[in-house]
Amino acid sequence: MSEFTLNTPTQEPELDTAMKVVFQWNYDPEVDELRRLYVKAAEAQWISSRDLDWDRPIDHAKFAATPLGSALPVEQTSFWKALPEETAWELTRRTAAFRLSNFLHGEQGALMVAAQLVNAVPHTDAKFYAATQTMDEARHVEVFSKYIQKLDMVRPIAPPVKRILDVTLQTDDWLKKLVGMQIVVEGLALYSFRQMRQLTEEPLLKDILTYVARDESRHHAYGVQYVERCVPCLSDAQRTELEDFALEAARTLIDERNQQTLLTSVMQIWTEVGIDVAELFACIDRERDDLIKRMENGRRLGPVQGFVIPTLRRCGLLSERVATHFHDFLRANLGAQLVGADVEEFMERLPELPHDTAAWVLGAN
Ligand SMILES: [Fe+2]
Ligand SMILES: [Fe+2]
Repeated sequence: MSEFTLNTPTQEPELDTAMKVVFQWNYDPEVDELRRLYVKAAEAQWISSRDLDWDRPIDHAKFAATPLGSALPVEQTSFWKALPEETAWELTRRTAAFRLSNFLHGEQGALMVAAQLVNAVPHTDAKFYAATQTMDEARHVEVFSKYIQKLDMVRPIAPPVKRILDVTLQTDDWLKKLVGMQIVVEGLALYSFRQMRQLTEEPLLKDILTYVARDESRHHAYGVQYVERCVPCLSDAQRTELEDFALEAARTLIDERNQQTLLTSVMQIWTEVGIDVAELFACIDRERDDLIKRMENGRRLGPVQGFVIPTLRRCGLLSERVATHFHDFLRANLGAQLVGADVEEFMERLPELPHDTAAWVLGAN
């Protein structure tokens, strides 16, 4: 039996944070929509060991449709298709474990930010809601870690994900915590969970993502409903600072150099399995046009343009000034064709937020 100790090798050095704690002596409802969301969250609690069937082995064949998260669908190259079945499974499960590990570590960050929000937000209803979210995030950490261990092993956090969690935990401004976590990180997560849930055919993973995505749609609703109430109370300077915080957070997550860091980690995993990565890339190069054509058939806006920026607009955090910065960096990363030639075109292409996020996230398209 392992010995209990205060310090374990898996612990990170402590991170100094600057959170301010607020007592609120009025316990009556002040923000009705948040009070309702809190009740809804309490009613929707679920239990991993009771509500999910963990005894099912992972279905290898059905797992194959799970998106691996790479920019181009490598699994559709002739190189990949010619691999022995066992090697293809090794690649799939390890790459998926890498992607899910980053979801898992993100969930731990969300757990800690939600707990900070209980202390830092100034309204009772918002503290109550953050308490239910803390419980939700603990469950998400639990289910993702359990699933990853069935699949492979937990991989270390990718540096860009760690950076954004640190910044959100460290700020002393509760509104920045709300915008960084509830709008940017959760917005991206919601988009990725939705896509993975739609595409995967692995029954246990699909069930997990159904429960998790339902919770996440409430977390996003909390961010939207609370931030949109708060923004009109801010000075111009405060609003500008908050807009810039959101911009930096989104930039950290999808910047091309950071995408490169993610790709390097994935390549290391492939090398572990004995894949000749140079040969795989040569094959991607040869088949690039075909892969892009296939992708374009189902091409959609990415998570930032398709979801995070529309959320910021809804909350009153998308001035023309910050929209121009968003357009510049998205165009540099994704190209004008997808993003729009200028900021007017960019704004015109921004979709409306779904009317019912919970239905959208669990919907078919
Ligand atoms: Fe979560
Ligand atoms: Fe969440």
